[in-house]
Amino acid sequence: MDQIKKYIDEAREFTAQNPAELEEFRIKFLSKKGILNDLFARFKEVPNEQKKEFGQVVNELKNIVNEKVATLKESFENIGEIHSKLDLTRPGEIHELGARHPINIVKNRIIDIFSRIGFTLSDGPEIEDDWHNFTALNLPEHHPARDMQDTFFIEKGPDVVLRTHTSSVQIRYMEENKPPMRILSPGRVYRNEAISSRSHMMFHQIEGLYIDKDVSFADLRQTLSYFTEALFGKSKIRLRPSYFPFTEPSAEVDVYWGLETETDYRMTKGTGWLEIMGCGMVDPNVLKNVNIDPEEYTGFAFGMGIERIALLLYQIGDIRMYTENDIRFLEQFKSELF
Ligand code: DAH
Repeated sequence: MDQIKKYIDEAREFTAQNPAELEEFRIKFLSKKGILNDLFARFKEVPNEQKKEFGQVVNELKNIVNEKVATLKESFENIGEIHSKLDLTRPGEIHELGARHPINIVKNRIIDIFSRIGFTLSDGPEIEDDWHNFTALNLPEHHPARDMQDTFFIEKGPDVVLRTHTSSVQIRYMEENKPPMRILSPGRVYRNEAISSRSHMMFHQIEGLYIDKDVSFADLRQTLSYFTEALFGKSKIRLRPSYFPFTEPSAEVDVYWGLETETDYRMTKGTGWLEIMGCGMVDPNVLKNVNIDPEEYTGFAFGMGIERIALLLYQIGDIRMYTENDIRFLEQFKSELF
């Protein structure tokens, strides 16, 4: 009996690493000259009063061995099936890494550059009301400068527009916060311009705003020079007098690109200078509209189109490339980290 119980333990604990080991186990217990046949043969030698118990234990052993052989056999068959379908010589699947869109890369680089000097992000809605897009920015109704930006009106009424510039975020931020403030607002803007394959109804801008005590035009100039150096590696800039309703004085910013890269005189038209953005000192009327005292605070603002900056930075030949989704164009930006 002790020996049979040892067999039972052995059978219970048995596992096979491969079909050969399983076969060995099967032969040991179940073959003609195997353990079970031997035990059954010795049944007649067992004293009558022990026959019942003996029979039960031997049957238990038989069941355990049979079950073990069946389950191990099945699992080896499954593995065999998987292996027969598996071609280990096949090359692996290549997972192509995508690339960021150049508009996003440039946006993120600009954010990074200004965040180093304390500018934080702020955003506003793309569907905007007249007050934030125009009136508060010193563009009252019927002001001729409204025509500078062909506006999409939302059906709801003349008061609701698709924002024509990110300058609207300046107003929203100044209404909600107290100076000092330093914000950067990237986002989409919309203009109903003559529709040709070269003009776009939606594009991207980045707006900057800095309001504090004693902010001067010199601060503006130095900030922009820092920016062009960080982005283009060119710190030589010039500020050309210009006009925006929300700034006074206003200027157009040119960066000196030089003539070395000028192959066909199309980039700078032979001047070496490239226009990159508009800027100025925030008009006192704008500050009054958001309840900031212009006697106490001054500030500067600037706005630039991201498409244009990316065009210059990457020497992209045609603005249509941004939206054509041509993989040969897009994958050139794979190495850019931003
Ligand atoms: N909002 C102007 C535009 O869309 C760009 C701009 C110019 C923004 C001067 C400014 C600024 O903040 O000071 O053309």
